[in-house]
Amino acid sequence: MRKNIVAGNWKMNNDLSQTETLITNLKKQTQTSTAEVMIAPTFTNLWPAFDALRQSNIEVIAQNMHFAENGAYTGEISAAMLKSIGVETVILGHSERRAYFNETDELLAKKVDAALANNMRVIFCFGEELADRKANNHENVVASQIKNALFHLDAAAFKNIVLAYEPVWAIGTGETASPEQAQDMHAFIRETLNNKYGAETANNVSILYGGSVKPANAKEIFSKPDVDGGLIGGAALKAEDFYAIVNAF
Ligand code: G3H
Repeated sequence: MRKNIVAGNWKMNNDLSQTETLITNLKKQTQTSTAEVMIAPTFTNLWPAFDALRQSNIEVIAQNMHFAENGAYTGEISAAMLKSIGVETVILGHSERRAYFNETDELLAKKVDAALANNMRVIFCFGEELADRKANNHENVVASQIKNALFHLDAAAFKNIVLAYEPVWAIGTGETASPEQAQDMHAFIRETLNNKYGAETANNVSILYGGSVKPANAKEIFSKPDVDGGLIGGAALKAEDFYAIVNAF
């Protein structure tokens, strides 16, 4: 049985004091759904967030990592370093990493391998740009992103993979994919997995939707059968909004 997950990606927002305030507010919220809840603060705030949330059911996860175990990679953070402070899950392949830091499918395959080798869980992001959708090429783009970065894995590896479909045109724009567009793509993704790995793997992988999810639209998006949760950007920066989304299941 796949899990419902709501993960807040804070991106490059919140300094230490803002992190402490947001966590205090998150702790005041009441969860009425059974969704797994995660937050991804910046690297500098991972440890304070982890420390503050030890007794809670909010998992603290990372927004990125390097593929190497250690070495001369100035400014980078390894899986082992994340694990050493208790972080067990990492977001990889976010479209902002792809667009602004030139992360390719080939690089992402190496990062995925490093995370899995360190027994971490990966939230693997992908999604088409507006031009791809206008050209009706969105399914090809998404299939190739998934195949290039993940299809060297065996079926067992997918126990530690969560997929996050994020159409680039819907991220931070206020323009959400319609629930039907999200469902169609999620069903296509599951079919793509089914064709390669079979029904058991395909049916057990959680597929999150990301892109302008907010309290007002979360319920309808999450009601779709192949949408197993959300990767939330802007709305994750307010505790009340984030929990309205968590509780939309
Ligand atoms: O990682 C989160 C996504 O990029 C969505 O961001 O909710 O601000 O559109 P957004």
